[in-house]
Amino acid sequence: MLMQSVYVLLIGLCYASIFGIVSSSEAHPGYDSGKCDVGTSASRDQGRILDISHAYREDMPVWDSSEGLGHYLWLAGSMKNGSIANNSEMKMGTHTGTHVDAPGHVFQEYYEAGFDVDTLDLKILNGHALLVDVPRDTNITAKAMEGLNIPRGVHRVLFRTLNTDRHLMWRREFDTSYVGFMKDGAQWLVDNTDIKFVGIDYLSVAAYDDLIPSHLVFLKSKEIILVEGLKLDDIDPGVYSLHCLPLRLLGAEGSPIRCVLMDQILM
Ligand SMILES: *[C@@H]1O[C@H](CO)[C@@H](O)[C@H](O)[C@H]1NC(C)=O
Ligand SMILES: *[C@@H]1O[C@H](CO)[C@@H](O)[C@H](O)[C@H]1NC(C)=O
Ligand SMILES: *[C@@H]1O[C@H](CO)[C@@H](O)[C@H](O)[C@H]1NC(C)=O
Repeated sequence: MLMQSVYVLLIGLCYASIFGIVSSSEAHPGYDSGKCDVGTSASRDQGRILDISHAYREDMPVWDSSEGLGHYLWLAGSMKNGSIANNSEMKMGTHTGTHVDAPGHVFQEYYEAGFDVDTLDLKILNGHALLVDVPRDTNITAKAMEGLNIPRGVHRVLFRTLNTDRHLMWRREFDTSYVGFMKDGAQWLVDNTDIKFVGIDYLSVAAYDDLIPSHLVFLKSKEIILVEGLKLDDIDPGVYSLHCLPLRLLGAEGSPIRCVLMDQILM
């Protein structure tokens, strides 16, 4: 009985906060039924945790390099060497693998003012999120954004693109032809949606050709958080509960981040 009323409440919340004003006929396939998928459909294995972070691998791609990450982890103290325990050390860029950008990444004044990854709002990094498929024949332009029909009231969106189909995060060599936001797409998002969390499936939310312009548009207000290098393979489009936690790297404008999705169920 209690469960039932909580469920009704959840559906109500879900309609209000996620589906808001969108008309079901125009909606994206991920939410076009007009019904709120709260994880009760038989097709969803309830209570799953879907890991959408990439494992750090020596052959994972890094920005503008054909070499990949390479040797980033080593055993500095080993029991075989007489250490009382094994202790590894690592060295890598803060924008490696699945990672988050802070406003100081592209704004010198924000960097100097201390807008590092430790200032990012955990409330934006955790909550309901929508996974959408971007049409595979385009970068994320204003037109592409408009076509996605993401309703007002949606705060977090994971954009799955051709990058996932091309398995780019599984290739050692950095590929500049990845899909990302063009400047007009970023501006459209800022002007016409309530999105505060932008997640994408390669090393930058911005297309290579609009790299800095798109970042500037997103990070100017300091209200939008960018998570890059997500692993979005084999996940149904739709609404999930998203949980992302960066490291508390004081002074850093980027950090590795662990993100998981959970199906939306109670208990
Ligand atoms: C410590 O590292 C060594 C390699 O130097 C390995 O053989 C051993 O299994 C490790 N010990 C533990 C407790 O993990
Ligand atoms: C100690 O361990 C490291 C890592 O396994 C190894 O490279 C090094 O040769 C070892 N040194 C000695 C003195 O055994
Ligand atoms: C996206 O933009 C990149 C340049 O930033 C280009 O190489 C690529 O072909 C574009 N992809 C699509 C699908 O239009």
